[in-house]
Amino acid sequence: MLDTASNRPALPPEIARRRTFAIISHPDAGKTTLTEKFLLYGGAIQMAGQVRAKGEARRTRSDFMQMEKDRGISVSASAMSFDYGKFRFNLVDTPGHSDFSEDTYRTLTAVDAAVMVIDGAKGVESQTQKLFEVCRLRDLPILTFCNKMDRESRDTFEIIDEIQEMLAIDVTPASWPIGQGRDFVGCYDILRDRLELMDRADRNKVAESIKIEGLDDPKLAEHVPAHLLDQLMEELEMARELLPKLDPQAVLEGHMTPIWFGSAINSFGVKELMEGIGAYGPEPQPQSAEPRQIFPDETKVSGFVFKVQANMDPKHRDRVAFVRLASGHFKRGMKLLHVRSKKPMAVSNPVLFLASDRELAEEAWAGDIIGIPNHGQLRIGDTLTEGEAIRVTGIPSFAPELLQTVRAGDPMKAKHLEKALMQFAEEGAAKVFKPSIGSGFIVGVVGALQFEVLASRIEMEYGLPVRFEPSQFTSARWVSGPKLAVDKFVNANKQHIAHDHDGDIVYLTRLQWDIDRIERDYPDLTLSATKEMM
Ligand code: G4P
Repeated sequence: MLDTASNRPALPPEIARRRTFAIISHPDAGKTTLTEKFLLYGGAIQMAGQVRAKGEARRTRSDFMQMEKDRGISVSASAMSFDYGKFRFNLVDTPGHSDFSEDTYRTLTAVDAAVMVIDGAKGVESQTQKLFEVCRLRDLPILTFCNKMDRESRDTFEIIDEIQEMLAIDVTPASWPIGQGRDFVGCYDILRDRLELMDRADRNKVAESIKIEGLDDPKLAEHVPAHLLDQLMEELEMARELLPKLDPQAVLEGHMTPIWFGSAINSFGVKELMEGIGAYGPEPQPQSAEPRQIFPDETKVSGFVFKVQANMDPKHRDRVAFVRLASGHFKRGMKLLHVRSKKPMAVSNPVLFLASDRELAEEAWAGDIIGIPNHGQLRIGDTLTEGEAIRVTGIPSFAPELLQTVRAGDPMKAKHLEKALMQFAEEGAAKVFKPSIGSGFIVGVVGALQFEVLASRIEMEYGLPVRFEPSQFTSARWVSGPKLAVDKFVNANKQHIAHDHDGDIVYLTRLQWDIDRIERDYPDLTLSATKEMM
């Protein structure tokens, strides 16, 4: 993991105030609703419901594809920026569906922290757990929001225990719910000794806060019914004895998560969570790279592409590369070195993603996410610098788990199909393999739903109906090793060899047994299920 920057001087204030994070959750826990409220408080939208309105108009920033609207899932990730208090928040949206885990994984390489949203009635669900494990691989700090407290929910201790047990992380309550379901009146803000009362009448109204001078303040009894007050006192006392106290350093190291309780739809607890991300969330962190680490306070600008998205706007057939700035102060029009091609690149029309619209970015700082429109030069894993040949590391590509042969409905359009497939491969939406024997392509994905998304996009964007058919192969491995050994292996296994869109050699098979055999027979070769994007 990265060195901490603790022995370095404090970051410049513009960088130190940035908080770049993602939300991880199981579908339906309330990620969209919470995002909307963040943006509402951030002033990025005027009223709730603009990000996601009901029925026909239901459309979020990332819900621009028909399929997404039909299925109600968010297929692509995007980024949104907003200010709240003295902080600038950059929220990177992760696709919630498990079929898009590779995309999610890469998105998480671009953030410094994650907000984990759980449903108070359901606790830690499968997708939350998976995403949490990915965050843990990177020791990302996690802040937790327990949502839907306005409904019948589980006992507070039970929820906290479940997180501690299932995710093996210390949990410290930042707030404590008072009552539940229909009796839920609000939360006691443990960090600031405040009573937050939820207003059920107006969902967009910010909760009323009442300053309390310790737990024996008579003001408590004025606002909380007696039986709930007794319960609150008892539970807070137990919590104090049984649960760990907030340790900001442990939060930054990813060993402890503070939990806030609330109800996103009622705008309740959201402000406290945002203030929590500001106070306890990390500043922009150093970035691992070769041949050296990049620190956010370096004066020279650098950044890396973690996501490429086509057709952000159906009216413009462009691609946008999402770049996380790793260091420096970027200004529009800057010439940056595209390290992979060694060519300079003038970044004249970068965009910042404000919730309501795209906006030209005149400037941006380490920690920010900017979008760079381009015609395909920028790929996932690419590094941009002010001249130094430095390459950001740790952005992986995973071997696909499902392989299918793809055919154009019209065989005359094979060239068009190739172009479309290359585009998706460069976007990271699929792996495309050209077998060394025979014609056609094999497409690999992580989840079956991606085939449907691809077929619909190829038809929509290229006017090309396609069919996906079962392939004889089920696994792919990247082959590397000394040239002689690789050549010998390729010649002896022609029926199994293909090239990916970068021209790298891939071994395709149906049997794990084959992979084991090759590892035995060709000790000089490495068959790998991941490849570093570069
Ligand atoms: P997701 O992005 O994580 O999938 O969740 P989303 O925000 O779409 O929320 C899922 C459902 O939960 C939505 O209801 C939403 O209104 C509801 N919800 C979110 N936060 C709260 C909360 O604090 N309390 C309660 N009671 N419900 C909440 P839906 O019926 O699926 O959609 P809609 O008809 O409300 O749009």
